[in-house]
Amino acid sequence: MRKNMWLTICLIAVCEFITSAGAYAQINKDLLEKYKVPSIKEPLLNKSNNYRLKLGKTLFFDPRLSGSNWISCATCHNPALGWSDGLPTAIGEGQKKLHRATPTILNTAFNVMQMWDGRFRSLEDQAMSPVESNAEMNQDPEELVKELEAIPGYVELFNDAYPGRGITTDTIAMALASFQRSIVAGIAPFDRWIAGEDKAISAAAKRGFALFEGNANCSTCHSGFNFTDDGFHNIGLNSNDIGRFAVKPVAVTKGAFKTPTLRNVTRTAPYMHNGAYNTLEEVVEHYARGGDDKSNLSPNFKPAKLNYAEKQDLLEFLKTLESAPAELTYPEMPN
Ligand code: HEC
Ligand code: HEC
Repeated sequence: MRKNMWLTICLIAVCEFITSAGAYAQINKDLLEKYKVPSIKEPLLNKSNNYRLKLGKTLFFDPRLSGSNWISCATCHNPALGWSDGLPTAIGEGQKKLHRATPTILNTAFNVMQMWDGRFRSLEDQAMSPVESNAEMNQDPEELVKELEAIPGYVELFNDAYPGRGITTDTIAMALASFQRSIVAGIAPFDRWIAGEDKAISAAAKRGFALFEGNANCSTCHSGFNFTDDGFHNIGLNSNDIGRFAVKPVAVTKGAFKTPTLRNVTRTAPYMHNGAYNTLEEVVEHYARGGDDKSNLSPNFKPAKLNYAEKQDLLEFLKTLESAPAELTYPEMPN
């Protein structure tokens, strides 16, 4: 009798072990599929190579791209500040304050559209816009071409990267795009966890991830490996900026902005298109109270009902998306 009971208990335990191990493997397989890194699509005419990367990097860090010769792309997209600037909204030429925050250029290789309002498709289309913008780099593109042509080091770099194409606004943009496409997030604890390394993230972060995908409703918009649906949503911020409406004027786009990646989000405070929040705690509070300006809220936006412990768990999860920065050598400026 006693022996039978023990046998039954042992059997149940073994069965439970097998089914739970099976479920665990299953979950991870699903997650791996859901968060799989897609391959980077390069335009046919701008396949990357070492020459293009070198030229693009040099241009990205060169303040001579601006009218004053003081501001480079990296002034605002600073690698030490998560490829952003640590400011609520950007500051350009002549200390002009812009009305939007500088997004990171990390993982822009995967963006379907560029900018908070998606007004550019490719990185190639985007690259000359900050150069020309009065508020950003305030440089006449034709002047810039002449300036670079007068620098023998650049003539050589362009020749290597785009043989026979010369220095034009197109080759400048292509090189900048090529370099930016190489700035991608590394493997974060979250990735190691879904790949099966159980201890890569804490129990709190695991609970946070369950909330992120479940009750807190975050993954409706922050979906996939880059934690964005590449869509535009109004999440109820107090802001006069019409956002996507300027590009696509229909009711739902008013005050809608592109869902930003959450990869390395710990590095890119302040947050939101207008830098409204200084910390991730404040961001989570925003979602918990269901936003502020509810006049045109996205239909996908639901208040995330979270208690104190759940908010902490969600924050712990967000931290697991941080990867070590790739080693970066600064380019030598050609003369
Ligand atoms: C004065 C600061 C400043 C400078 C200089 C600057 N940017 Fe930006 N960058 C911004 C801001 C602000 C935005 C967002 C603007 C918007 O969405 O309307 C942005 C957006 C971008 C984006 C879109 C990212 C995304 O996720 O949508 C890319 C790519 C980019 N910049 C690349 C560059 C390159 C290349 C240069 C140099 C040629 C450059 N930037 C110079 C501030 C700057
Ligand atoms: C309806 C879509 C949607 C949902 C749901 C959503 N987000 Fe967002 N999230 C966005 C958009 C769009 C922005 C940018 C808004 C802006 O600047 O106007 C954003 C911005 C953020 C930012 C700031 C990132 C940065 O670089 O500025 C964080 C962090 C964030 N969301 C985390 C979360 C978390 C955590 C949840 C769940 C509680 C969540 N989001 C739910 C769409 C969404």
